Amino acid sequence: MTDACTFVVFGATGNLSRSKLLPAIYHLEEAGRLPAQMAIIGISRQDWNKASFQADIEELLKDKARGGLKPAVLDRLLNRFHLLTGDIMDPGFMQKLSGHMEANPAIPRNMIFYMAIPPSQYATVARAVAAAGLNKEEQGFRRIVIEKPFGYDVESARQLDASLHRDFREEQIFRIDHYLGKSMVQNVLVFRFANLMLEPLWNRNYIDHIQITHAETQGIGGRAAYYDDTGALRDMLQSHLLQMLTLVAMEPPANFDAESLRDEKVKVLKSIRPIHKRAVPAHAFRAQYTAGRVKDQNLTGYLDESGVAASSVTETYASMRLLIDNWRWRNVPFYLRTGKRLARNSSVISIRFKHPPQQIFRKTPIDDIKPNWIVLGIQPQECVRIELQTKQTGLEFLTRTTRLDAGYSSDVTLQLDAYEALLLDVIENDASLFLRYDEIHWAWEVVDPILKTWESEREYIVTYPAGSWGPDDSKLFDREDQRWRNSIDES
Ligand code: BG6
Repeated sequence: MTDACTFVVFGATGNLSRSKLLPAIYHLEEAGRLPAQMAIIGISRQDWNKASFQADIEELLKDKARGGLKPAVLDRLLNRFHLLTGDIMDPGFMQKLSGHMEANPAIPRNMIFYMAIPPSQYATVARAVAAAGLNKEEQGFRRIVIEKPFGYDVESARQLDASLHRDFREEQIFRIDHYLGKSMVQNVLVFRFANLMLEPLWNRNYIDHIQITHAETQGIGGRAAYYDDTGALRDMLQSHLLQMLTLVAMEPPANFDAESLRDEKVKVLKSIRPIHKRAVPAHAFRAQYTAGRVKDQNLTGYLDESGVAASSVTETYASMRLLIDNWRWRNVPFYLRTGKRLARNSSVISIRFKHPPQQIFRKTPIDDIKPNWIVLGIQPQECVRIELQTKQTGLEFLTRTTRLDAGYSSDVTLQLDAYEALLLDVIENDASLFLRYDEIHWAWEVVDPILKTWESEREYIVTYPAGSWGPDDSKLFDREDQRWRNSIDES
């Protein structure tokens, strides 16, 4: 049975809480997975009360609840809530929180602190939790969940980690990267390590290159305060995309426990060839969206989004070419890209194989054989697809692409959200899908030279129209026959 606990959300009315945490908690409630005694303390600067919160959450969940909002589930969830108003950056605030705990002895003493707040506040708030004695585990466990980005670069990540360790043991710290909670991301491991057929092919002898794309149609919404200081490289590439890369590229772990998995991921990150500052333009590309039009809708350009500085050169699109210097991957390029306001929502890992060594069909109508691909659709379409060339029926000697499709659920209403799985893992004390600090350190080492170079180039940034497939960054590719694959269906 799962232990009763109190889930404290710092930033309970912020973007992350509204878009991910509250819907995830609702779905866990619906599935009966929350401990019966669990309490939730929502903390916000907003002046709120039960009635306004109830109306607000009901409105929010109407859109987000899979299969429609169920009033009985919402009631159960609301009964767990305690609302506290105050500024968490005010040194006295945590006394209010501990006072609330003392005044309510029925609230479970096991506590989880979730940092759904701006990254610049993590260290201060964690220290304040400790200063109020709330990190002490005499009455129950105390865990702290830190969202990404963990720091802004190598040095600030080190400082943040050192600061957290002044008050919390490593076992109390859960560094979240919600991509590891996505079932298709976990499926990369199953696909690779539960199928012997693939292993002989999974290396530099057979693979031409690997692409990892995360495209979003949405802009930055109301997140300018966070995003304009962060940019796409920190927001997505340093974390989610590099994590996906580690799973595609790692060696089989000794077993499936948290430390063995993390050891292998770190080895991959450490083997990524460092990008020298002078080589940044050949290895990385950034751009920003301008106004565009999609299906009769006018989309605002980044510089016109509320809260963005008129002279901002923050990238909303970032792409990179990486090489992994180890026996398996030497000289196989990994191309990674992410962007906001692109043409479609699509996260896909695409693995392109080399051509057969001998072109035996050259003197036949088949003069241009298409390569094999393995495509792992992460979202919204979850699938594993293998593309092979076969002969078309008929008298002509022509080929066509045949797709072996292990389709997964394309019904988004049935798909679990990553946060559901990960919140449950924190409650149940399973850290396997959370990051160890050295993973974060080596991921910052990969992007640091790019960040530093871009920071020094503040005059100009390439643009792309909102709703397009982004800028022309084809110079990243090694050869002309390599290009981005924009969807699962295209080859
Ligand atoms: C977050 C980023 O970590 O991931 C957002 O901060 C991004 O900018 C989001 O939109 C994408 O997550 P998902 O699960 O919607 O693909």
